[in-house]
Amino acid sequence: MKQLAPSILSADFSKLGEDVEKIQRGGAHLIHVDVMDGHFVPNISFGASVMKSLTGKTELPFDVHLMIEEPDRYLEDFMTPQTEFITVHQEACIHLHRTCQHIRSIGAKPGVAINPATPLSTLSEILPFVDLVLVMSVNPGFGGQKLIPQALNKITELEKIRGDNSYGFKIEIDGGVNRDNLGEVRDAGTDIIVAGSAVFGADDIEETVRDFCGILENKR
Ligand code: DX5
Ligand code: ZN
Repeated sequence: MKQLAPSILSADFSKLGEDVEKIQRGGAHLIHVDVMDGHFVPNISFGASVMKSLTGKTELPFDVHLMIEEPDRYLEDFMTPQTEFITVHQEACIHLHRTCQHIRSIGAKPGVAINPATPLSTLSEILPFVDLVLVMSVNPGFGGQKLIPQALNKITELEKIRGDNSYGFKIEIDGGVNRDNLGEVRDAGTDIIVAGSAVFGADDIEETVRDFCGILENKR
């Protein structure tokens, strides 16, 4: 089943609880949590306390995307009963295998993300150990950017590598997904689709999520 993970980066933080209720009612599968430190990416978003303020307000699992340097220092902060994935960037981790082990040891599923300029080949040794591979389809740091089409080729290639090796990870795309390209993104082989501005910038958030989920299920 293809899953939609709206990114709260583009939500109205003054009514975050309400916005999250809307995406849940619309049928979203995960909440994508974009954490930025102003070092690994040129922007600062929010920390674990904002994410934790949602626990109990929604049953949706958290899909944590750490765009930060030295993520090992903060992994425990993002572990809650609702945390499903914690994803770190390949480019930010000197000891990536150790970091993935650390994530699993605290009870989350480890994910690894790669920037648009990072080749898939840099992941060959870690793929057997991760539950998620996040392919960035924009340069991380900001919502509302345009999707870089080469990311779709990477996803198709990754799906083939997964099949050839019987790996179990899910494939996620993040950045620039909207209603116009959602069908193409789905067909490229993506399992989890992140959408920020296209969901939270819509006039009717709940209906937009319902519409996107329908497209993912191939119903329209
Ligand atoms: C970019 C973030 C994305 C972003 C997606 O650095 O990782 O998750 O919020 O936003 P849109 O869907 O607006 O490109
Ligand atoms: Zn993200």
